[in-house]
Amino acid sequence: MYKISRSFSVAVVLLLTTVLIANAGGWAVITIDELPAQITAGQALSIGFTVRQHGQTLRSDLKPIVRFERSAAQEAFEVTAQRQGGEGHYVAEIKFLSAGQWEWQVDIEQFGMITQPMPTLSVQAAQAATLTKAMPAQTRPLPLALILAVVRAIDQMLMGKVDAAPISQQMKPVSLAAAQPTPVDQAALGKALFSAKGCVMCHSHDAVNKGQSVFWFDGAPTPDLTVNKYTAEYLHSWLKDPASMKPNTSMPNLNLKLTEIEALIAFLQAAH
Ligand code: HEC
Repeated sequence: MYKISRSFSVAVVLLLTTVLIANAGGWAVITIDELPAQITAGQALSIGFTVRQHGQTLRSDLKPIVRFERSAAQEAFEVTAQRQGGEGHYVAEIKFLSAGQWEWQVDIEQFGMITQPMPTLSVQAAQAATLTKAMPAQTRPLPLALILAVVRAIDQMLMGKVDAAPISQQMKPVSLAAAQPTPVDQAALGKALFSAKGCVMCHSHDAVNKGQSVFWFDGAPTPDLTVNKYTAEYLHSWLKDPASMKPNTSMPNLNLKLTEIEALIAFLQAAH
């Protein structure tokens, strides 16, 4: 008798706990509009995003709080995002006061704890940024003084006056290196988008959230995307509009841009 009532009460407690967790409002997929390419300390920046409850329903009645933390320096701040634009869309106005690596997340109280990891943002110091901004790498002319210095140095070397080392030192700090465009690492960008666009909330990938996100939609688990089983062409169509490939799919159309789709494909196809 004792045994029965005890296991019964355990069952009731378990049941209640499950109901309580479920009632916390469930979960949401956050899709960042665009990852800021270059962030400078002290400059105003807007981060826009869309909230889909359970990955499906656009919710416009929320107060998302964007929290930033630079753990190395024990600095932190938060900004409440404002409703702006289309359904389910919010914008947070931000200003980083110091340079460094900032971790962040978007919390929505109504949904309990949000666990979507956002890619770390790298903020550069104001001074370094002004230089680059004033003269974009591609258009920056080689300063005449530098050209003259190099010509003079080569001249001197040819005449046997100096060895090669001082020349390379003269050339190092100047814009020759900066004039070369930095190739964007597509797979790295795709990895950041995997988090920022919300894929990470429904899919696991060993390089991001090993085995952590498995949901059952319509009786089947969401595929783990670590090992790519798809052609680039298929991924293109799928990510552009999943329902065009499978009309009843539970995967939402996240309105990805072509460049984002390409980066995501590079990430999914990279060997991990
Ligand atoms: C709300 C949850 C959710 C989000 C967010 C989501 N997916 Fe999916 N995804 C699914 C589900 C569910 C399926 C299985 C679909 C089916 O078979 O109908 C799926 C299937 C896939 C497939 C396999 C398609 C196939 O034909 O088997 C790929 C690839 C994929 N998702 C990539 C992504 C990427 C990349 C992102 C982010 C840009 C993403 N998903 C975001 C739920 C989601």
